[in-house]
Amino acid sequence: MPIQDCFTFTRTGHFVKNRTVLAAMTNKQSNADGTISMDEIDWLARRAEGGFGIITTAATHVSKDGQGWDGEFGVFDDLHIKGLKNMTNTLRKKGTISIAQIFHGGMRSPERLTGVTPLSASRNKCSESFSGFSRAAMEEDIMRLISDFSDAALRCAKSGFDGIELHGAHGYLISQFLGTKTNRREDEWGGEINARSKFLIEIIRSIKSKVPDNFIIGVRISPEINNIGINMHDSIKLAKILTNEGLDFIHLSCWDSFSRSISEPNDSRLITEWFTSSIPNLPPLISTGAVWNSKDANSLIAQGADFIGVARVAIAHPDWPKYVSEDNYQPQLPPFTSSHLKSVSLSNKFVDYMRSWDNFVLDGK
Ligand SMILES: Cc1cc2nc3c(=O)[nH]c(=O)nc-3n(C[C@H](O)[C@H](O)[C@H](O)COP(=O)(O)O)c2cc1C
Repeated sequence: MPIQDCFTFTRTGHFVKNRTVLAAMTNKQSNADGTISMDEIDWLARRAEGGFGIITTAATHVSKDGQGWDGEFGVFDDLHIKGLKNMTNTLRKKGTISIAQIFHGGMRSPERLTGVTPLSASRNKCSESFSGFSRAAMEEDIMRLISDFSDAALRCAKSGFDGIELHGAHGYLISQFLGTKTNRREDEWGGEINARSKFLIEIIRSIKSKVPDNFIIGVRISPEINNIGINMHDSIKLAKILTNEGLDFIHLSCWDSFSRSISEPNDSRLITEWFTSSIPNLPPLISTGAVWNSKDANSLIAQGADFIGVARVAIAHPDWPKYVSEDNYQPQLPPFTSSHLKSVSLSNKFVDYMRSWDNFVLDGK
């Protein structure tokens, strides 16, 4: 399947012009009250202009106490809708599908930012908490969090997004419920993977009950996170559970799409192949991680991905989708000069943030 092939979401009818996805990227450019800044809109608009079929926003918090970083835009209040409409109108005019990545940081939401003790599935060691520990969510917290997620999804629909991606990857609250080490609950929200995924499944059901029928609902997962207790075996089971929920897409965050499973080292399959070979009727699959050039993109398609997600390469090369179908497209690799990054619609704040990523920004200019 060529990368320039179009795609139509079966359930919602949305048309996507090609198989390229801008994966979620936190960029710390927004305002302290959670309203979105023009810098954050401009950065995504430039990638939409570059031809991405789907544009995902930075992770955005569904509850005030779920914020992960300074400068993160929020979707926890109607106050945010006006700015978000501005973003979605801009993206729509550029012919892309807009997806908001919604999340709650759980024990990774700093008390310094939120003013409350971070919560998680269980009481865990937590460097973001003044006491050094998160608190275990009580039943009423869980109910409140589920409605915070679905209210936020409804707000996204009202703001004109085509859909949402639930951030179930990278160790934030949803993954904290999925992981055996962070979720040691003995009630219905903990135990085997079926029970540990109940929080995520109830969120999906609650969202479906509130948003319009043609609103795209997808989930991003990390197939393996050793330090919180997520392994390939459980992730395959989770993907089966998600497939039965009738999702519009599953997004695998692989970090390196060309690596093998860490928890199943004797199996030669690459991460995406685990999913495409084990699950019949898998929803459309986005896969992301270490794709830079046309060869990488084509080999990920050969592994069975329906969409190719990219992050770092699109920071420096916003027109990546226009060139990736060329036989041997080899965009320049990092580090990049700050003047180049500014020339492709990164604000000073975003460039500064990228200095914290190893070997990404070349100079102080
Ligand atoms: C600056 C930056 C911010 C990121 N922020 C997020 C985020 O908000 N949510 C998320 O799921 N992943 C986030 N990621 C991870 C990317 O979506 C992607 O999975 C990862 O960078 C690997 O893809 P790549 O090799 O194409 O960069 C971020 C990555 C970068 C470089």
